[in-house]
Amino acid sequence: MAVTIKGTGSFLPEKVLTNFDLEKMVDTSDAWIRERTGMSERHIAENDTVASMSTEAAKKALEDAGKDASDVDLIIVATCTGEVMVPCTACKVQAEIGADNAVAFDINSACSGFLFALQTAAAYISSGMHRNALIIGAEMLSSIINWEDRSTCVLFGDGAGAAFVEKCEEGRGILSMAHGSNGAKGGVLYFRKKEADPAKEDEYEGKDAFVHMNGAEVYKFAVRQVPDCIEKVLSDAGLKASDVDHFVLHQANIRIIEAISKRLGVGMDHFPVNIEKTGNTSSASIPLLLDELNKSGKLKDGDTMVLSGFGGGLTYGACVLKW
Ligand code: ACO
Repeated sequence: MAVTIKGTGSFLPEKVLTNFDLEKMVDTSDAWIRERTGMSERHIAENDTVASMSTEAAKKALEDAGKDASDVDLIIVATCTGEVMVPCTACKVQAEIGADNAVAFDINSACSGFLFALQTAAAYISSGMHRNALIIGAEMLSSIINWEDRSTCVLFGDGAGAAFVEKCEEGRGILSMAHGSNGAKGGVLYFRKKEADPAKEDEYEGKDAFVHMNGAEVYKFAVRQVPDCIEKVLSDAGLKASDVDHFVLHQANIRIIEAISKRLGVGMDHFPVNIEKTGNTSSASIPLLLDELNKSGKLKDGDTMVLSGFGGGLTYGACVLKW
């Protein structure tokens, strides 16, 4: 049974933190951040939460799909920065939008989260267990950033994106998908709670958790693993990289996206980016970009897309989708 995305929505918090603001906080510069990451600003949640941002994005995705909350069978929120561990963010969204008929749960696979939520929803819908799903990627990375660490604090932003997913005619929607994990490399990128890091407790200064990252290792992983995964899903769908209209990749870093474009032999004009305005929003980045493309009319009926997420775990995945 074929499965597709029928509607999208997103939410970005009002407050914008520019590279020039960061220059006043740590020893960095607008030029360094732009050149190494492609970012110039990011949104920071002040009065919002992961649950409230998820709810706003979900409402917009339902509206775009022309669905009512009572129609929703399954809600999956991909996040690694939810305010509370229990109840999960998806159950909070369910209550907020009044999706009384849905089952709701979260998944945590960092920057691959939205892609994994899409694949999970597709598997449930294909099996006949559910008719549709509301999937959301949402993060408040600002809550776990060490604002004194210039190597990480310039990279991340907050936001949420959502998609309504349901079955469609054969030959449309998701044509192929693949995913993988490399737990042995988990130490390359992790969010560690203070309690789990007693030797470094002083560094946490009142925060509960911090992002730790070996940037060079993440870069190497992404530029090797992601093109391989994309080539696999393209081959499974009987397509070549040159057949793809839009590569909607996790917006980690412009240099990673440029390297992947080079590896696949496809120009950057097929790689839409919004990283300049949003920073890296982890599991929110793919649905934020997808919604931007959808609402701006850049996605045409029948366009071929590749969605690909990669990040902490380490985890990665991709799918080919005919819009
Ligand atoms: N401003 C100014 N200088 C900085 C900053 C900063 N914000 N951060 C680090 N530097 C300095 C370092 O201290 C170092 O100085 P030194 O040479 O005097 O020691 C110098 O810049 C170079 O540091 P590197 O870490 O080698 O910088 P690099 O060129 O590797 O760029 C970056 C860092 C952008 C993180 C890069 O490694 C990268 O793109 N990694 C990919 C990881 C990534 O994008 N992660 C996002 C999260 S993970 C995900 O979403 C999948």
